[in-house]
Amino acid sequence: MSSKKPKEKVTTEEVGFTSFLDNELRPSSWQDYIGQKAIKDNLKILIQAATERGTSPEHVLFYGPPGLGKTTLAHLVAKETGRAIKITSGPAIERVGDLASILTNLSAGDILFIDEIHRLNKTIEEVLYPAMESGVLDIIIGKGPSARTIQLELPAFTLLAATTRVAMISSPLRSRFSGGVFRLEFYNEEEIAEILRRSAKIIGVKMEGNAEKEIAKRSRFTPRTANYFLKRARDFAQVEGKPLNKETVELALKLLGIDEKGLSPSDRRLLEIMSDKFGGGPVGLSTLAAALSEEEATIEEFNEPYLLQLGLIERTTRGRALTSHAYKHLGKTPPANLQKKLL
Ligand code: ADE
Repeated sequence: MSSKKPKEKVTTEEVGFTSFLDNELRPSSWQDYIGQKAIKDNLKILIQAATERGTSPEHVLFYGPPGLGKTTLAHLVAKETGRAIKITSGPAIERVGDLASILTNLSAGDILFIDEIHRLNKTIEEVLYPAMESGVLDIIIGKGPSARTIQLELPAFTLLAATTRVAMISSPLRSRFSGGVFRLEFYNEEEIAEILRRSAKIIGVKMEGNAEKEIAKRSRFTPRTANYFLKRARDFAQVEGKPLNKETVELALKLLGIDEKGLSPSDRRLLEIMSDKFGGGPVGLSTLAAALSEEEATIEEFNEPYLLQLGLIERTTRGRALTSHAYKHLGKTPPANLQKKLL
């Protein structure tokens, strides 16, 4: 029997907040990496201490919503330690042999980055434990009563891993990230504006007025989304023969279906369905996913974190519920029990 987990659908937002655009804009020094100060400070200490001792930094797990810079941090750790980084992902490691081959091909001191580590299956995860803890690989040779285990010594390495679903990481795996488990936070508007000013310089576009503030306001507090909007607004301004200013940003984002709070069409559809079909909730995730014909993971990873951050929905023990602010945003009258919260 195969021990493979069923494959989740690869989730990307409908307006394409994917990572393809990141490379040229990815910061290549701590100085260029804006925000997440506590994480940066911790990583700097971890790296310096390990370097001074002549060892590899211990394993680190990054988690948080997509687009906040987890992969970028991994690249920065590699750059700061002067080590090579090998990049793979949970879904790409389908068999124990895939992981064995990756681990045995590492050179001493390499950094291994596993993105979406929550999608590693259990059997493979168990091979990773001794590799992380003791630097060894246990390989079973043969089958049945004659099967035996041989142990291979691995080169010293640092595992950096990232996940958008930390609740899916088993506690034995989590506890082996002895260098730290760090949660990336949403950025504030000023940080996003600073990221946008840097990005605009790199792609050679001039922003006028407070264009970056208008993009930042709608960016879901997320650098990847902000950079994506910058590029789309740049395209719009270019095609229209206009400067990149507040007005062209507003028009370009309206064309993408992004509203003044940065909600995408799928966010608004979720709020509308909660209001119209479920009386504002509470409604369970699986019911909501079925009503939206959407994957639960997409709702949990892409829509919910931002809607929670804006205070438009809340999570209760009985499911998700709209807040009075959501009704206000939709231009609807909240039910009586929420009305007083608006006053
Ligand atoms: N791109 C992604 N994350 C970033 C950050 N923190 N600073 C600058 N650019 C980024």
